[in-house]
Amino acid sequence: MSIEEEIQKLGPWFHNIHLPDGSSTAPNHFLGDFPAFKWNNIKDAIPEDLTGCKVLDIGCNAGFYSVELAKRGAKVTAIDLDEHYLKQAKWTAKQFGLEDKISFRKMQVYDLAHTDEQYDLVWFMGVFYHLRYPMLALDIIAQKVKKMLVFQTLSMPGKDEMEIPEDIDFHGRDIMQKPAYPVMAFIEKRLAGDPTNWWAPNHQAIISMLRSCGFSVTAMPEDETYVAVKDKSLITDFNTWNYSEYLSATGKNWYEEIGLKTKNKNV
Ligand SMILES: C[S@@+](CC[C@H](N)C(=O)[O-])C[C@H]1O[C@@H](n2cnc3c(N)ncnc32)[C@H](O)[C@@H]1O
Repeated sequence: MSIEEEIQKLGPWFHNIHLPDGSSTAPNHFLGDFPAFKWNNIKDAIPEDLTGCKVLDIGCNAGFYSVELAKRGAKVTAIDLDEHYLKQAKWTAKQFGLEDKISFRKMQVYDLAHTDEQYDLVWFMGVFYHLRYPMLALDIIAQKVKKMLVFQTLSMPGKDEMEIPEDIDFHGRDIMQKPAYPVMAFIEKRLAGDPTNWWAPNHQAIISMLRSCGFSVTAMPEDETYVAVKDKSLITDFNTWNYSEYLSATGKNWYEEIGLKTKNKNV
C-alpha cells in the first residue's frame, strides 16, 4: 500500500503532519497548516536540546508534538484516550523512525494519578477545555511535572490581568464582576458544534489556576498557549488542607494516607 493510501485508510486526521516522503496527512485542514503554525511560534520557547529528558504528551492525537519533541532527543510518553488517534500516532512515529523514542498508552488524563513517573516537560495542549473535571486534571498533572509545563486551552476572549487579593470581603464580591477577575465560562451545550467542549477560562483564570497548582507562567509564545515552570516558592492547595480531597478524588485511601485507620473514625 502506498503512503497516500495508508493516510486515507487511517483518516480522518486532525493533525496535518508533513511526512518525510513529502506527503501530508491533512493538507486541507480547516485551521490551515495545523498544528505546524502553532509549533513554529512555540518551538523557541522550549529547550532546543531535550536529550535525556522525559516528556509526557497528554492528548497526543496523531503525534505531531510527540514527533517534534522526540526529534529534539526527548524520550516521549504519549497518551490519548482515543484508539483512532493512537493508531495514527504510532504510524506517524514509524514514518519518522522514532518508534523507539515514543511510547504510546491508551489513557485518560486522570489515570496519571495512578502512575509513578515524573517528567521534565509535560505537554498539555488542546485537552483542558474538553474535561469535565479540569482542576482535578491540573492537580494531577502538577504532580507529574519536574520542570516545565506547556499548556494550551480554548479560552474566553481578552487578555486582562489583575492582582489577586489575599482575601475577598464577603460583601465585596462585586470584584468578581471585573473583566480581569479569574473566571471560567461553562459551555452547557456546544461550542463550534462540539459537545465535548465544557469550559473556557479567561486569561487571568489560566494564570491563577496554574499558580494555584504550583506553576509560574514564564512565556506566552502563541495565542492561548502558556509556558509555565514549577515554582517551589508557591504553596499550593495540594500541599495544604486540600491533600485529602485530592486523594479521595483520585480514588486513593485518603484516610489511611493521612494517618486514620478507618474512614468513619471521629477526629
Ligand atoms: C483538540 S485535540 C488536541 C490534540 C493535540 N494535543 C494538539 O494540541 O494539537 C484533543 C485530544 O485530546 C484527547 N483527549 C480528550 N480528552 C482526553 C482525556 N480525558 N484524556 C486523554 N486524552 C484526551 C482527544 O482524543 C484528542 O486527541
